[in-house]
Amino acid sequence: MIKSTLKIKSLTNLNKKRIFKLVNSNGYAVIKGLFKKKEVEKGLNYFKKNFSSLHDKSSISGTPSEIKKNFQKLCVGSASVNGEKIYRLHRVIYNPFWSKNKFELKNLFIKFAKIRNLFLGFDENFCIKKIEKNLWSANRVLQYPVGGGHMSCHSDYILKNVSEKNNINKFYQLILLLTEKSKHYQNGGAYIIHKNKKIYIEDNTEQGDLLIYKSTVKHGVDEIDPNMKLNLSKANGRIVLMNSLYQDFTIKKSRSKFFRNLS
Ligand SMILES: [Fe+2]
Repeated sequence: MIKSTLKIKSLTNLNKKRIFKLVNSNGYAVIKGLFKKKEVEKGLNYFKKNFSSLHDKSSISGTPSEIKKNFQKLCVGSASVNGEKIYRLHRVIYNPFWSKNKFELKNLFIKFAKIRNLFLGFDENFCIKKIEKNLWSANRVLQYPVGGGHMSCHSDYILKNVSEKNNINKFYQLILLLTEKSKHYQNGGAYIIHKNKKIYIEDNTEQGDLLIYKSTVKHGVDEIDPNMKLNLSKANGRIVLMNSLYQDFTIKKSRSKFFRNLS
């Protein structure tokens, strides 16, 4: 097994320490065994069946209240609300707990949220049924299509004046892989830059593996199968779930100007 990979059946305080250690020394960790391949495959198939490109909104769409509902956008280029130049071609599909379970992904998202909560040190059910501490679970599906889906190299946070207050995701990003390299796409995928080396963190991963990386680390997604013809009406390529805690911008302004949502 790759040195950053850990196989566990459930998250405990003991293996949590081991995961932190791996992430801190290697920049990332791959956690196997928390999700069954079957349940992930089922979710992926249902998502693909119920996906429609007709719901796509523009790259810079998505107000704070819009993304708290089922909301889908196709992001092309580097234009973004916060002005950060991150070049991309991907879809983001927001699917919060309180919105219609249109992709049958709710159970996966609940399990994923519980793992996030345990990992980040919150109560098990934190932000699952409601908004808590002005935070909500930004459940979303990200799709990087074959034919060039990508995101250029960036880091998620500005490190200046970091305080516990704006450190809500504790600088760890969690990604649940619904697809698998060499099965759903052949080339490209997520990487990090660690000690000046580019590491493809999804090589040797499987459907249902959980990726954890430090969001302060430089990372991106290399073009998914650029030799293929792009077909934006299909949900193909690399598909992952994310569930970062977002501040509820519909209620009040961010407590910190250093906290930014980049996806
Ligand atoms: Fe990022």
